[in-house]
Amino acid sequence: MATAKLLLLMVLVAASSCDGSAWRGPLSRLRMLPTAQYVVEAAAERLKEDVSSAPLIHALHPLLGSAGDFSRRAGVPCDSWRLAVETYNKRDWTTVPASCEGYVGHYMLGGHYRRDSRVVVDEAVAYAETLNLGGNGKEVWVFDIDETSLSNLPYYANHGFGAQPYNATNFDEYVVNATAPALPEVLELYEKLLSLGTKVMFITGRHDTEKEATIKNLRSAGYHTWEKLVLKPSSLGSSVVPYKSGERQKLVDAGYRIVGNMGDQWSDLLGAPEGDRTFKVPDPMYYVG
Ligand SMILES: *[C@@H]1O[C@H](CO)[C@@H](O)[C@H](O)[C@H]1NC(C)=O
Ligand SMILES: *[C@@H]1O[C@H](CO)[C@@H](O)[C@H](O)[C@H]1NC(C)=O
Ligand SMILES: [Mg+2]
Repeated sequence: MATAKLLLLMVLVAASSCDGSAWRGPLSRLRMLPTAQYVVEAAAERLKEDVSSAPLIHALHPLLGSAGDFSRRAGVPCDSWRLAVETYNKRDWTTVPASCEGYVGHYMLGGHYRRDSRVVVDEAVAYAETLNLGGNGKEVWVFDIDETSLSNLPYYANHGFGAQPYNATNFDEYVVNATAPALPEVLELYEKLLSLGTKVMFITGRHDTEKEATIKNLRSAGYHTWEKLVLKPSSLGSSVVPYKSGERQKLVDAGYRIVGNMGDQWSDLLGAPEGDRTFKVPDPMYYVG
C-alpha cells in the first residue's frame, strides 16, 4: 500500500516538474512574450471574461514536490518579489525583474489577478453594506484611475508587463486614445456604491491636460457619473502622496466624509486623511511613489 502511494507520488512529482503542465489552454503561446498583437487582444479579452471559467495558464501555487520553490527556477523568486511589492516592503523600484516578466504576464492574464481583485472588491462591498449612511449626500468613496478604475493591461501586455522601462511618450499616446477597459470588479463596486447612495470621486495622477481623454475613457468604460474628477496640475511635482492626501483634505474641509479609498499604489492610500478605510487592488507591473 505504502509502496503504491509512493509510486503515485513519484508520478505526480514527475508530471508537475514538467514545465509544460503549468501552461495550458489557448494562451499557452504566451511563452513567446511580450510584444505580439495577440497578447494585447488577449489582455483586453481577459478583462471581459468570467474568471471562474478561465483556463489555468500559470500555476502560481506551489507545485507538488516543489516545496513552494517553483518560481525560483527563474532565478528571482517572483512570487516573493510580488508579495514584497504588494505589502510595500519593496519600494522605489523601476521595472519588473527581467526574469519575472513571464510570471507577471501570466499573473495578469491568467485568473489570478482577477481573483485577487475579486477578493478586494468583495471586502469593499461587504464593508460598504455595513455603512450606516447618513443620507446627507456627503459620503464619498475615492477611486484612483489607472490600474484601479481603468486597466492599462492592453498597453502593458505589449510593453513587457512592466519589465520594459516606462516610456511616457508611448503611454501618453495610449491614454489619449481613451480605450482602456474597466477593471470589471472595480466597476461592479462602483455600481454598488452608487446604489447604496455613496458618491464617487476620482483622484488621479493623470495630468489635467489629459482631462478630456480621461472623461471620454471613464464614460466608455462604464463610469457614467461622479461627484468630482481631480487631475494633477501639470505644474505639480511628481510626488503623489502630498498631492493626493492634499486633495482628500480639501474634500474633508468641504464637509465630505471619505468612507472608502481605493487604489493600486500605496501612494494612493497613504497620508492623512486616508479615509475611513483603504483598499489596495493588486499591481505588480509598476511603482508610483
Ligand atoms: C519612447 O518611445 C518612442 C517611440 O517608440 C521612442 O522614439 C523614444 O526614444 C522612447 N523614449 C525612451 C526614453 O526610450
Ligand atoms: C488606439 O485605439 C485603436 C482602437 O480604437 C487601436 O487600434 C490603436 O492601437 C490604439 N493606439 C494606441 C496607441 O493605443
Ligand atoms: Mg493607479
